[in-house]
Amino acid sequence: MIYQNLLVDTDDNGIQTITINRPDKLNALSLETLKELKDAVHQVYDDETIKGVIITGSGEKAFVAGADITEFSEINELNARKFAENGQETFKLIEDCHTPIIAAVNGFALGGGCELTLACHMRLATANAKFGQPEVNLGIIPGYGGTQRLTRIIGSGKAFELMATGNTISADEAEEYGLVNYVCESKDALLAKCEEILLTIGKKAPHAVGQVIDCINAVSDPEKNGFQIEANAFANCCGTEDFIEGRTAFIEKRAPNFTGK
Ligand code: COA
Repeated sequence: MIYQNLLVDTDDNGIQTITINRPDKLNALSLETLKELKDAVHQVYDDETIKGVIITGSGEKAFVAGADITEFSEINELNARKFAENGQETFKLIEDCHTPIIAAVNGFALGGGCELTLACHMRLATANAKFGQPEVNLGIIPGYGGTQRLTRIIGSGKAFELMATGNTISADEAEEYGLVNYVCESKDALLAKCEEILLTIGKKAPHAVGQVIDCINAVSDPEKNGFQIEANAFANCCGTEDFIEGRTAFIEKRAPNFTGK
């Protein structure tokens, strides 16, 4: 698939940067952009050489300023459910991916943009970043999983305030809320910090990292027994060659060389 709205670049370390690239529209997520994003994430699932992914927005002003409001005139009560499910499916693909994905939030992360950050495994931001779910201003609510993930990450009181007032919060407030792990001074520093974290994770046993992701995601699924899933995942890791390598390397006082097997 040739992308019109994404830039995808993988560096020599196997870290891929997916840039939402509609800067003149503050990187608003049009349906076509969402489709391209879904395709790009599918490619990540299929490519073991990709060790980690950074999702960011083009330019300095915005990560993603929401779903593309100019397409909203096409939405009605009949097709809206499908619209929401389409976004939910794409973001679930991000959340469930065993390759770590970090949102590098370089400005406005509003509406669907904020929801996109919530589906990533971690969020880092520049000092000028702003987070918000302003859908109530348009007479709607978040539909790409935001009501669930925001509540899970920052708690119901703060999530309610953000979604019911439509107010935005700064990067520092987002850090206080536990929404953001680190606030960086510039976009370059932000991308460098994301890369550093992904390279650290990339040195660990990939299977174990994937199991951590599954266990964390089980927290939000009421049909899953997270403790059972954790025990199964633990047992699963114990059957890998990487577990033998990890414990042998410790005894031999050397760095482990994990292979993902
Ligand atoms: N969908 C479509 N286009 C969008 C957009 C969105 N979500 N957000 C911004 N844009 C477009 C603007 O229409 C404008 O396009 P134009 O130059 O063709 O008029 C361009 O991006 C720049 O935005 P602008 O509003 O001029 O920038 P600003 O600095 O004055 O304001 C925001 C920035 C983010 C506060 C403002 O753009 C905004 O409120 N955007 C919508 C946020 C939102 O409600 N998102 C949730 C959608 S469910």
